[in-house]
Amino acid sequence: MKPKLVVSTGAGISAESGIRTFRDADGLWENYPVMQVASADGFRANPELVHKFYNERRHQLINAQPNEAHRILVELEKDYDVYVITQNVDDLHERAGSSKILHLHGELMKIRSISDPDYIESLDIEHLDTTPATRGRNGDLMRPHIVFFQEAVPAIEEAIDIVRVADIFVVIGTSLVVYPAAGLLHYVRPGVPVYYIDPNPASTAGIPDVHVIKATASRGLRELREILEK
Ligand code: OAD
Repeated sequence: MKPKLVVSTGAGISAESGIRTFRDADGLWENYPVMQVASADGFRANPELVHKFYNERRHQLINAQPNEAHRILVELEKDYDVYVITQNVDDLHERAGSSKILHLHGELMKIRSISDPDYIESLDIEHLDTTPATRGRNGDLMRPHIVFFQEAVPAIEEAIDIVRVADIFVVIGTSLVVYPAAGLLHYVRPGVPVYYIDPNPASTAGIPDVHVIKATASRGLRELREILEK
């Protein structure tokens, strides 16, 4: 059986694809008040603005391509049972070809029913724009398939179960400020090596067995691959 390599990714892994992170100096939140475009209250107050924000994100995404970091995670599947748990709402892990991907914060290219959270539709590339009047094929009013601030993260239990069986845990490109995702590290079994790849890593005080690789996602993953091959 291949060792289980569990990878938790954040906005930093998509930075080299030209998608801005949220909290870096040129981050997305600089241009948009977070609570207006990414919270349940913001959506209630101004759904037009929230739809517009995610329409812009979708147009940006279809013009972006997976980068070397996404591709290395696919290549690692030759030797490892790789699970990707991502906070990202982009589909770059899918387009690179990773086979096991869990989205914690939803998916940009999907919309879901306002009244039935289990009714989800994929958007096609010709029809990326949604408005508060957008209806699904079942007639329901739809919203972006995004986990807003103030909402629960339904996939977190599944993510915790995956992290608990990791033989190696890798964290890439996240500021580790948004919970519960940032807390996944604490479910790693004792003795399991943890690698954290980020050019500007958050404090890892209190996390045992963590090896910080201070580098961009692609360079850091090249380095990690060499470490794992030794
Ligand atoms: P942040 O913007 O908070 O953090 C991005 C991290 O990526 C920082 O630690 C940067 O140092 C790092 N970074 C920048 N360039 C990089 C590169 N080339 N390679 C690797 N790392 C790089 O993004 P997240 O931690 O992902 O939620 O943010 C978590 C959540 O906050 C997001 O999922 C989003 C937001 O609220 C939703 O949209 C629901």
